[in-house]
Amino acid sequence: MKNERSTRDQVRELLRSAGFGLIQFDSPLQADSKLRIDVLAWAADSTGELVPWAVVELRSGQFKTPELTLPSLARSRDLLGSVDHYAVVNRQWFKADRGVRSLEPVDGPTPPPYGTGGFLADEEIATSLLLKRLWREADLERSRGVHEDFFPSAELLAETAIPGIEGGSGEFVPVRPDVLWRARRRALMQFSANSRAGSDLTSHPVIATAVAALTGSRLAGTVLDPFCGTGSFLWAAMDLALAHEAPVEFVGIDINERLADLAAMIGRTAPLITTITHGDAFREPLPQADVVLAAPPVGMHLQEPRNLIDGASTNDATVAGVDLAVRQLRPGGRAIVHVGAGFTFQHTAERFRQYLAHECRVAAVLGLPSGAVPGTGVRSVLLVIDKAEPGDTFVAQLGGDWETQLKPGGAALTAALDHLDDGAAAG
Ligand SMILES: C[S@@+](CC[C@H](N)C(=O)[O-])C[C@H]1O[C@@H](n2cnc3c(N)ncnc32)[C@H](O)[C@@H]1O
Repeated sequence: MKNERSTRDQVRELLRSAGFGLIQFDSPLQADSKLRIDVLAWAADSTGELVPWAVVELRSGQFKTPELTLPSLARSRDLLGSVDHYAVVNRQWFKADRGVRSLEPVDGPTPPPYGTGGFLADEEIATSLLLKRLWREADLERSRGVHEDFFPSAELLAETAIPGIEGGSGEFVPVRPDVLWRARRRALMQFSANSRAGSDLTSHPVIATAVAALTGSRLAGTVLDPFCGTGSFLWAAMDLALAHEAPVEFVGIDINERLADLAAMIGRTAPLITTITHGDAFREPLPQADVVLAAPPVGMHLQEPRNLIDGASTNDATVAGVDLAVRQLRPGGRAIVHVGAGFTFQHTAERFRQYLAHECRVAAVLGLPSGAVPGTGVRSVLLVIDKAEPGDTFVAQLGGDWETQLKPGGAALTAALDHLDDGAAAG
């Protein structure tokens, strides 16, 4: 075991001093694949992008025949398009010929030809490097005896002089800024979904993309999420705004300081103007918006009653949250809110529902089974509310396949969008 570690250390050291920018051990060959490569070293290609350059197979002990590594080296080359292929057998380096058919003894790896620079453009790898970092920090916190559930501090995503990711052992991997921005979002979302502290606070990724998609033809101007958490709704809407080259500005607020800081950190590197603050959405002044996206806290009781636009007051955070979303909308704007299904039938929300039916266009109601609100067993609904004259409502109750139905191109999402866009054209 000790021997194995020192071989790895030697291999890492030689690859590093040869100029490789990122060195991965036991790297999976493809996402979800059980096939792993002992060592994968990345280097810049002629365009300055970090690409999988060298593959190293490690063998030790009784293993004496380096040629036996050729089939796995050739398989790596076929799958990755890697350039140089090595076997290290009992610390002796062998390099394969171009066709990966034979091996020659060498002193160590050949330095990559385009220098030591290069930016990683592979989003999967960047995401997994960041995720590893987040989990390593979480383990560290645990080993320090921090009993409070760990949620990453925003410093872990802080900007560096060159955009990139700091590895655990002093490594720094430069990453293309657009890739880094996406990787940060994905890593944070995956971390949150799998950590006890975050899983209840982060919306399901399919909900985030569906909420963004339901903005349909209204995605413009200012997009506000008053309960933004780490910002998954805002980032999903930003993807669409970028795809449509729409000049959109994004505003988020969250009462949880750690979440707001993390969202702000991601927002700082976002390609479109983003303002994220920490505060109570029910108290802070918020901008009027063309689009409001919101998942208000589920099942929460407000300490002080809140006055609603219908003239009544409530302590129910869901009703108050939908009220806030509608209140912040400019005429012609659209709110998409994800709330517990109780909002559609509970007596406490009846008066507010009537207000919505008379004063707005409740354009779509998509019922979802339990599982769509993380950390709870409650059924939920996606409501699409336009600040416009009342009109037809698209209604659907989705079952166990709700994720398929709501993915881009999914039947329910497509049907809802047809209805919404027809309505927009008519209006
Ligand atoms: C269901 S989560 C929304 C998650 C978010 N869509 C995401 O994917 O990260 C509800 C969020 O509302 C926040 N929250 C609760 N009360 C709030 C308030 N009064 N003002 C602002 N945010 C609040 C919570 O901290 C939590 O992040």
